[in-house]
Amino acid sequence: MTTPDPQSYHVLTFGCQMNAHDSERITGMLEQRGMVPAADQADADVVVFNTCTIREKPDQKLYDQLQRVKGTKRRRGGNQVIAVGGCLVEAHRDNLLAEFPWVDVAFGPGRIRDLGNYLELADGEGAGVGHVPGESEGFYGIADERSFASELPTRRDRPHQAWVQISMGCNMKCSYCIVPAVRGKEVSRPFAEIVEEVERLAADGVREVTLLGQNVNSYGNHLPRDGSPRTFAELLRAVDAIEGIDRIRYTSPHPAHMQGDVIAAMAECAAVMPQLHLPMQAGSTRVLKAMRRTYSRERFVDLAAKIRAAIPDISYSTDIIVGFPGETEAEFLETVSLCEEIRFDGAFTFIYSARTGTEAAAMEADFIPPAEQQRRLEHLIDVVRGIAEERHTRHVGQVQEVLVEGAARRPAHHLRGRSPHNVKVVFEGDAPEGAIVPVRIVHATSETLLGRQVTT
Ligand code: 5AD
Ligand code: SF4
Repeated sequence: MTTPDPQSYHVLTFGCQMNAHDSERITGMLEQRGMVPAADQADADVVVFNTCTIREKPDQKLYDQLQRVKGTKRRRGGNQVIAVGGCLVEAHRDNLLAEFPWVDVAFGPGRIRDLGNYLELADGEGAGVGHVPGESEGFYGIADERSFASELPTRRDRPHQAWVQISMGCNMKCSYCIVPAVRGKEVSRPFAEIVEEVERLAADGVREVTLLGQNVNSYGNHLPRDGSPRTFAELLRAVDAIEGIDRIRYTSPHPAHMQGDVIAAMAECAAVMPQLHLPMQAGSTRVLKAMRRTYSRERFVDLAAKIRAAIPDISYSTDIIVGFPGETEAEFLETVSLCEEIRFDGAFTFIYSARTGTEAAAMEADFIPPAEQQRRLEHLIDVVRGIAEERHTRHVGQVQEVLVEGAARRPAHHLRGRSPHNVKVVFEGDAPEGAIVPVRIVHATSETLLGRQVTT
């Protein structure tokens, strides 16, 4: 008697780190069911798309993919499960399955577990994956029906680095942003559960954790005030105290929740890295107000200065949107000048993209023409690159502790890793993945540091 080949899966991920982490849970769940990775998408018994809808571009990429997989599924005689999860699913819950009838199952971001239940049911029917009787199914919801992906098994690509989800959803009301509508209200994971997860990760060889949440530093605001630790600052300190965890990062914080206790914890905890992603979005107070960011240009400057006073060598990265409805040239130039003032080590720059249902999407009369948005973006990218290169150049001549991630793609025989400031370092050396080694930096670009391992 021969055992049948195990079923195979293929997961394609769009979007942010939270999605990448959700995909680790999806993969972990599929592997727990005995499934193995497929050589490529066309060979997979189960194809999963983990989607993003924050801007319009990823939407189109998904639609192209869905058209492609329609043909593959037909060639396999329909014997392929097409699953679509993530934020786009929640945004299009009313029409996704009708529009793409070859999709078998759709599940919102808080409903990963339901994918497993669906496959369970398919197997239970004895018909095997791909032959679920009846209609395709959808699992949506942004309230209590959500659960933390962290309750599921995981498959990490990097043995020494891990993401840890600490909250889900977002209670802010940024006028451009669809996240609150698709990920729901903010819920914090219990403090002790997070600490236990990090302890398990440390025992498993993880040295670096990145705490994740849509609004990561408002963690704990809604947890019961029963005297036990519950704030984000306390969480940083608790994770810092875990043996074996050498590096702690977190993303993405909101400037409004960057309180003194968080800054003090960052400054005082040896494992919290001197790096912060601090989304600025715009440099004009009027635009920031229209975005409902809750801070002015001046408050952002003050905050950055306050954090820099506590952690002098801190590196900032940021997110910036250009071409928000009504943004004038002068206001755009305020964004440019604020970048010059703060001196970010890196920035993600985006063209404003109207998302159905958000407040700003209704400001149609004030939309900026795409060619003008593009021009502003290119100008900003030039400025941001120049500043990043200058900032990175301060490391030339220094010895930096680099967490080794493996072989560099090029040049040959070089290693690649990350500096404490989260900059990619390519270097000559000899060290296993997961080691933290001293590297003398010899050259810097806007994105990478080059160096040589220091041997004693
Ligand atoms: N258009 C352009 N950029 C956006 N972002 C969020 N929503 C939009 C939108 N509608 C950007 C913000 C956020 C980052 C994750 O994506 O800068 O911080
Ligand atoms: Fe969106 Fe603003 Fe929440 Fe970030 S803080 S997820 S930009 S609503």
